[in-house]
Amino acid sequence: MEKKRILTGDRPTGPLHLGHYVGSVANRVKLQDEYDAFVIMADIQMLTTHFEHPEKLHQDVLNVAMDNLACGLDPAKATLFIQSMVPQIAELTVIYSNLVTVQQLSHNPTIKTEAAQYNFGESMPLGFLSYPVSQAADITFCRAHLVPVGEDQLPHIEQTRKIVRKFNATYAPVLVEPDAKVSEVPRLVGLDGNTKMSKSLGNAIFLSDPPEEVKRKVSTALTDPARIHPTDKGHPDVCVVYAYHKVFNPEGAADIEQRCKAGTIGCVPCKKLLVDVLNRFLAPIRERRAVYEKDPDSVWDILNKGTARAYEEGAATMALVREAMKIAYFPQ
Ligand code: TRP
Repeated sequence: MEKKRILTGDRPTGPLHLGHYVGSVANRVKLQDEYDAFVIMADIQMLTTHFEHPEKLHQDVLNVAMDNLACGLDPAKATLFIQSMVPQIAELTVIYSNLVTVQQLSHNPTIKTEAAQYNFGESMPLGFLSYPVSQAADITFCRAHLVPVGEDQLPHIEQTRKIVRKFNATYAPVLVEPDAKVSEVPRLVGLDGNTKMSKSLGNAIFLSDPPEEVKRKVSTALTDPARIHPTDKGHPDVCVVYAYHKVFNPEGAADIEQRCKAGTIGCVPCKKLLVDVLNRFLAPIRERRAVYEKDPDSVWDILNKGTARAYEEGAATMALVREAMKIAYFPQ
């Protein structure tokens, strides 16, 4: 029996950070054996927030691909590809845009949060408002069954499901309605305590940060503001460092919680412990990344092959879509 498919991926806006890892990359690596995995470098989606900087995409597509490979995505199992090189995604986006209302898009909570973050105000680009439609095309062009994502992406998966249902009911049931799969740790707070780690918020630890940089960033992390002296009783629940211990140091976290509450471990040694934990976690990722950094051509080759496969899938889906819509004018 053929494996079921997953599709997931990222906007290449810079190197990936720990939030990406926890929210989605760890899951895609774990699922790549059981599923036929497609991983999209969503370069067109990056333009919805950074249209004036397409020249950055070349490096950032490479960065995101290297990060995925360094985290253990195996190109023999997973298909890494570039969104803009699969034109069927653009074709589907145009067709789907008739099946969505402006109203639905403007009520999408993730769109609202991001619009505030980018300060669009009255001048929101149409492409930004409608990127969930394009994301529905990203997911359905290869007829994916499952989408491993962080919880901020759930409204987009729900939108995708609505589009698929509407398409299938209106034309013919040829599209696959995908399920979302949220990881056990759906979201990582930023170093500054913001609810989301994000490059644009400047509160991220990148998977490619060197050990010294990890140390520097952790030293800036928000801790319990009520704690002045190391012997003060702390409140781990409001501490970013403790939040990271819980995720990356699950065996040690209970002890740290207890000692923080009792005032028997100060923030400085607690941060030092975290730096060690993170650097141990990142060491093998850095090592694998270094191999790809020395040989970027091998990464472009992986992307080129993956994109060729994605193109084939896109062509197959477009043939079904045209059949379903009775606009398959010429015999194939
Ligand atoms: N919107 C996702 C993010 O910001 C990236 C993305 C683009 C995506 N296309 C996708 C995620 C398709 C899952 C499926 O991280």
